[in-house]
Amino acid sequence: MNAPRTVAPLPADAPADCNGAIIRFVDVYKRFGPLPVLQGVNLDIPADQTTVVIGPSGVGKSVLLKHIVGLLRPDAGEIFFHGRRIDHLGERALEAIRKRIGFLFQLGALFDSMTVFDNVAFPLREQSDKSEEEIRRVVRESLAVIGLSGTELKMPADLSGGQRKRIALARAIAMHPEVVLYDEPTTGLDPIRADIINELILKLKRDLKVTGIVVTHDMTSALKVADQIVMLLDGKIVFRGTAQQLRCCPEERVQRFIQGRASPEELRALHQN
Ligand SMILES: Nc1ncnc2c1ncn2[C@@H]1O[C@H](COP(=O)(O)OP(=O)(O)O)[C@@H](O)[C@H]1O
Ligand SMILES: [Mg+2]
Repeated sequence: MNAPRTVAPLPADAPADCNGAIIRFVDVYKRFGPLPVLQGVNLDIPADQTTVVIGPSGVGKSVLLKHIVGLLRPDAGEIFFHGRRIDHLGERALEAIRKRIGFLFQLGALFDSMTVFDNVAFPLREQSDKSEEEIRRVVRESLAVIGLSGTELKMPADLSGGQRKRIALARAIAMHPEVVLYDEPTTGLDPIRADIINELILKLKRDLKVTGIVVTHDMTSALKVADQIVMLLDGKIVFRGTAQQLRCCPEERVQRFIQGRASPEELRALHQN
């Protein structure tokens, strides 16, 4: 029989064992005044995979993403990155984390008065000590990855909505992030342009080993890019599993959402008014 192993006490800031998860939410609560949004979120994001977060508008999906980069802080609960607690870090320490996490915001958010080149170069100039020559090389590589080489001198207004989202993605990947947060990356795009974004999400995972978190209501996109799907409803994660398991999930609210069916109460309210 083996002798019992003596275990040294962990130092106060030792990484927690997150069981392979690169990001972990533990019992996270967040409210805005009287409005409860996150009400006990527990979630593991596995490394090198794509997790898709689905759920109705206004449920707190963007709020969830903003907690990962410290743009919002939980009222209670803990958030871990690589096993280290990050929800109580100061701005300086958060900056180091933000460099490792690219954020593709819901509305794309390019600087309209800057060229494509300056938009993609922006984080490199602000947050790295790369020379202008290195920056030119990284911008060129990032534009090649997203399939828009040669657009350096264009202005955002000269591009389509889909191209603008891809430039925003080039700006995120220019920092070589480990994690990319995609907030509704296909919303407002036609199905073909949406599919180019889906292919890019798959490509970044495959070629650059990016861990992706994709917030979407686009079920076609969710089913194409997800390794795991989670559903946020009433402030909690009510489902976590593969696309196949989602299809078989017996919960009525989950099935209504994925099939795009309003509830009988919602329909009654519509016909009364
Ligand atoms: N900074 C904020 N201040 C007050 N309320 C907010 C803030 N951010 C989000 N909310 C509210 O929190 C709820 C969830 O928002 P959000 O995460 O943007 O929803 P979605 O799931 O559509 O992304 C909404 O009711 C929204 O109005
Ligand atoms: Mg949102």
